[in-house]
Amino acid sequence: MVRMRRLRAGSNLRSLVRETAVTINDLVYPVFIKEGKDIKEPVASMPGIYQYSCDRFGWELERIVNAGIKAILVFGIPKHKDETGSEAYNEHGVTQNIIREIKKKVPDIIVIADVCLCEYTSHGHCGIISGNEILNDETLEPLAKMSVSLARAGADIIAPSDMMDGRVAYIRKALDITGFKNTPIMSYSAKFASGYYSPFRDAAQSAPSFGDRKTYQMDPANGREAVRECENDIAEGADIIMVKPALAYLDVIKKVSECTNYPVAAYNVSGEYSMVKAAALNGWIDEKRIVMENLVSIKRAGAGIIITYHAIDAARWIKEE
Ligand code: PBG
Ligand code: ZN
Repeated sequence: MVRMRRLRAGSNLRSLVRETAVTINDLVYPVFIKEGKDIKEPVASMPGIYQYSCDRFGWELERIVNAGIKAILVFGIPKHKDETGSEAYNEHGVTQNIIREIKKKVPDIIVIADVCLCEYTSHGHCGIISGNEILNDETLEPLAKMSVSLARAGADIIAPSDMMDGRVAYIRKALDITGFKNTPIMSYSAKFASGYYSPFRDAAQSAPSFGDRKTYQMDPANGREAVRECENDIAEGADIIMVKPALAYLDVIKKVSECTNYPVAAYNVSGEYSMVKAAALNGWIDEKRIVMENLVSIKRAGAGIIITYHAIDAARWIKEE
């Protein structure tokens, strides 16, 4: 008999043969910054997550740093939205302001700036529109302007999440010619048109006012196409590729991580978070066990970087181990 149970006999032995461990270094915490003053507004569909104005974010930043988190993903929510999302590249826009503020207070925290127009457009789509169509090529220039403006504000990594074709090459070129040759691009390469984003759209106030995102985000049924998306982004100059969402797409994370030697990030998205929180608040599951099991599964699938709203709790649980 092969006695598999021999190596499960005690906790020290189990940790000796454990194949995967999530560390605090792997975690990225997303934050929502709303233009205005004195705002700490709970996101109803995401218990524990708040929108902060710049002036109230200091405490939260301290909590993040004290937890040992080394990287954050910043989403700005502007007051003024228009048809073309022009606030996205305002040098004194909400996102630019908070990035400068964060880098002034905590220079070594890695600030990853999400690049997309949907928080800034009046119609909530990720690009420039004409009628009901979301235009690809016309969207590249505003994305590049936004990227340069966020890099200038101090962003360490530029993360385009719009899913327009050709945007990585376009942004790379714009960064290179404006003095940001060394700013890496983390591309949301395999981003699926997912029902798991709906709590985020409350948090970022970015729901599309007509139609859906299926003409630019990927069909959840397509795993092979996800590899092509990643290959294209790498060819265009991406430094890190991302699969999003994470848990329903572990096979995609696995496949992508096996076909490239680039760092792979996975985004454990809002809906994945909200489902866990809802069940935990009802006492139906053990939150710590479920979260740590989800995170280790994402890492086991092949993601070395995990973007998650659970990051602060997970950091505490990792330290307790
Ligand atoms: C915007 C964007 C979305 C997310 C990250 N950037 C939402 C969307 O595409 O509608 C989703 C994050 C989450 O659900 O946690 N381009
Ligand atoms: Zn978007």
